[in-house]
Amino acid sequence: MKHEIRFELNGNEVTVEIEDHWTLLHLLREELGLTGTKEGCGVGECGACTVLVDDMAVNSCIFLAAEAQGRRVTTIEGLASPDGKLHPIQEAFIEHGAIQCGFCSPGMILSARALLNETPQPDEDHIREAIAGNICRCTGYVQIIEAIRAAGQGPADDVKVMAWQSANDNSEGK
Ligand code: FES
Ligand code: FES
Repeated sequence: MKHEIRFELNGNEVTVEIEDHWTLLHLLREELGLTGTKEGCGVGECGACTVLVDDMAVNSCIFLAAEAQGRRVTTIEGLASPDGKLHPIQEAFIEHGAIQCGFCSPGMILSARALLNETPQPDEDHIREAIAGNICRCTGYVQIIEAIRAAGQGPADDVKVMAWQSANDNSEGK
């Protein structure tokens, strides 16, 4: 049976009718057309479907859409600024060769975003822990770890991320 939920999706309030058994992944990809979120294993083991719910990384393939009610959901489509400028984490992934086939990238980048929100200057152990649930079959992880460290590293880059977030928050508020 369908019922209505309301939640914030990439900064916009949305109201949608869902079936009780739908996953958030199904809602995003099949009903809302946000195909940046990828479906890999479908059982919570690969991280390709990672999105943020209230800034926490979750596997949307095993997260019921109904649980999004009243929450704040961020997908890869919501990470760039409204004028299309890439988020510093996305830029760092490109600069460090951390994107090859790209299938894991949306989930990996959102896991990185969740980490950097909590720990702006993570060490390698923090990074490995944060992306432990995200499988990449291409890069061997070294470039990914370098990219995440670069996106959060040191005062200069930290300021860069913080400044970007501040500018984006301001523009969303207009
Ligand atoms: S598709 Fe969700 S964890 Fe693999
Ligand atoms: S870049 Fe291909 S799976 Fe990670």
